Amino acid sequence: MICFLNGDYLPIEQARISPLDRGFIFGDGVYEVIPVYARRPFRMVEHLQRMQRSMDRIGLANPHSIEKWEALCMELIARNEGENHGLYIQVSRGVAPRDHAFPKESTPTVFMMCNPLRAAPAHWRAEGAAAITARDERWLNNDIKSTALLGNVLARQKSVEAGAVETILLREGMLTEASSSNVLIVRDGLILSPPKSNLLLPGTTFDVVIELARRHGMAHELRPITEAELRSADEIWVTSATKEVLAITRLDDQPVGEGKPGPVWRRMDRHYQDYKREVTGCEAPQA
Ligand code: PDD
Repeated sequence: MICFLNGDYLPIEQARISPLDRGFIFGDGVYEVIPVYARRPFRMVEHLQRMQRSMDRIGLANPHSIEKWEALCMELIARNEGENHGLYIQVSRGVAPRDHAFPKESTPTVFMMCNPLRAAPAHWRAEGAAAITARDERWLNNDIKSTALLGNVLARQKSVEAGAVETILLREGMLTEASSSNVLIVRDGLILSPPKSNLLLPGTTFDVVIELARRHGMAHELRPITEAELRSADEIWVTSATKEVLAITRLDDQPVGEGKPGPVWRRMDRHYQDYKREVTGCEAPQA
C-alpha cells in the first residue's frame, strides 16, 4: 500500500511520524474517510468541505486548498492497486514539545492512505444486521470529525462483544448517532432522523439519503427521536461512507419491525445504488 505523508508517496511500512506528533499525544487532529468506487471518489468535495469545517472548529489552518486536496486524492488512488477504497485522510496539529496549549508554530502532519473497501456481506443485504444500544458518553463536540475517538472506540467495542455490527447511542433518552455511523428510523412510512447538532457528525452518506428522499418524494422529517420511538420503529438504518445504508433488523436482541429489511429501506437502497452508479459509473451493486 502506498501512502502519502507530508508531501511524499511511500510504502506504508516506510512511513514514520514523530512520537511528539500532537495527533499521537493528544488526538489533536481531524480526519475523513472518502469511499472510492471503480477508482472514482464518491462525494469527495463534500468530504473535503467537512474536513475544512472540522479544521475551522479546532483552529487548525488547512494546509491545502480543496483543489489541491482533490489532486492529492486522485494521485494516491492512481498509485495504489485496487478499484474500491476507503481513502483515509488525517491532519494533525503537527510535532511540538508536549504542552496542551497550541504550539506557536507547527506544521500540520498530513497522512493519507487507501484501505480496501469491502462489499457489505450478502447476508446483511438479505437479512439486515444486529445493533445494540448504549449510553452516549462522548463529549459535546461530535460534529467535529476528530481523531480523538476513544468514546466511539469504547462504544463500538460493546457491540463487538455482543456480536453486533453497531452501537446506537442514546443521550438523556434521545437518539444521537451510532459509534461510526448516523442513524435514521422509519415509522408509518415516514423517514425520521435527529437534526444536525453538536451531538452528532453531519454525515455525508446521511446527506445523500436526505437528498434522495427529496428527489424521489419519500416523506422525511428531521426532529428529535426518543428512545421509545427508536425501540418501536418499523425500520432502523445506519449510514456511513463504508456501510452505505444498512438495515438494522435486531436491536438489543429484539426484532426491529418484522425482523427483516423493510420496504422503505429497499427503496432507498435501490436509489442509493442507482445514484452511486450515476456518479461513479460503478456497475457493482456494492463496493
Ligand atoms: N465514520 N457518525 C460517526 C461517529 C462516524 O464516525 C461516521 C463515519 C458517520 C457517518 O459519516 P459519513 O456518512 O460521512 O461516513 C457518522 C467513518 C466512516 C469512520 O470513522 O471510519
